[in-house]
Amino acid sequence: MQRTQVAIIGGGPSGLLLGQLLARQGIDTIVLEQRSRAYVEARIRAGLLEPGTVELLHTAGVGARLAREGLVHEGFELAFDGRVERIDLKGLTGEAVTVYGQTEVQRDLGEARDTVGRPVIYEAEEVRLSGLDTGHPRVRYRRGGVEEEIECDFIAGCDGYHGVSRQSIPADRIRTYERIYPFGWLGVLADVPPVSHELVYANHARGFALCSMRSAHRSRYYVQCPLDDRVEEWSDARFWDELRARLPEAYAARLVTGPSIEKSIAPLRSFVAEPMRFGSLFLVGDAAHIVPPTGAKGLNLAAADVRVLCDGLVDHYRAGSDLLLDEYSTRALRRVWKATRFSWWFTTVMHKFSDEIFAARLQLAELELLGESRAAAQAVAENYVGLRFRRAEHESR
Ligand code: APR
Ligand code: PHB
Repeated sequence: MQRTQVAIIGGGPSGLLLGQLLARQGIDTIVLEQRSRAYVEARIRAGLLEPGTVELLHTAGVGARLAREGLVHEGFELAFDGRVERIDLKGLTGEAVTVYGQTEVQRDLGEARDTVGRPVIYEAEEVRLSGLDTGHPRVRYRRGGVEEEIECDFIAGCDGYHGVSRQSIPADRIRTYERIYPFGWLGVLADVPPVSHELVYANHARGFALCSMRSAHRSRYYVQCPLDDRVEEWSDARFWDELRARLPEAYAARLVTGPSIEKSIAPLRSFVAEPMRFGSLFLVGDAAHIVPPTGAKGLNLAAADVRVLCDGLVDHYRAGSDLLLDEYSTRALRRVWKATRFSWWFTTVMHKFSDEIFAARLQLAELELLGESRAAAQAVAENYVGLRFRRAEHESR
């Protein structure tokens, strides 16, 4: 029988970030990950960090490479109707975002965990949770054919949408909300210079496109595609032609193309589970909520959950108070629904849902407003850089 204070299910960004922050507070954790380290670190995901997430990564002691290699962006561009509008994040909010691949965040957190002396248990099979509402939670798993058991005070379910944690909550004790979008994102990674030094989100009659990057030499591009498309149907040439067709002329003319080093199609969905706690189990990140990638909120929301849960656990072990822990779900969901709304709105205004002209005209009117109304642009900018937690506001109630 192993013993720890907090058992963390899932060795993705949420699980490792929580483990790092708790270790710095002297709180012991064991992290169980069903996949191998190589698999987890090879996953290609988005790469845009809110300032609050950057701050938290520094607090966790994994900010050095991010500070050296992260690209700080003070704005982004919206392309529509043959024109481009820039959202001046710095001017409108005083803040900037950082482009730094989630793959890099995962790697930094993995290396930091190696120094904690409590290694991640990779390739942990058949993870099962029990005693969640008894005050004596347990985790069982198999590794190398051997049955193992962990006794703990709390369990953090950081195991993503398909994980065991949310499924361990009785059906009558959880509500879920979901919206599936009728299209996917075909993403390509290529070692070519980015078409623009800032991100470009394009609304086009042929569908959405996004120009992003990982560095000055590596670009990440996405085009909206039908959900039932298969990657094999998209040659590199077809991808570049389609992307070029969806960009304003000047961008299309300077687009540098090359062989893809990664190509994949991701579905788009909005999903929220409530509450984010069941007894000793706390759901974190994708285990509790999924947002479409349009607003780049996935990793940032997961980090925000980790911040709230960490505060609660520190208060429990340091001050013997469960006030923050008892409010974890309410506080985390307040932010989750706002980010879910922003990601839904951004997806709705930028993507092609049908050939209906009326809908397309409404989109253009909304986008034009962002170029004409400072207030409208400010609201988008505030959501894009991330809505700051207003602890004081909560405590004053
Ligand atoms: N037992 C142990 N580990 C599990 C189990 C299980 N039964 N099920 C899933 N896992 C692991 C997965 O293999 C994965 O490595 O949990 C991890 C969950 O990681 P993520 O899916 O990355 O979720 P999270 O850490 O919350 O990160 C959220 O990831 O998908 C992006 O857009 C998303 O950016 C967001 C971020
Ligand atoms: C990415 O760089 O992969 C990225 C950036 C912004 C988004 C989504 C994805 O909104």
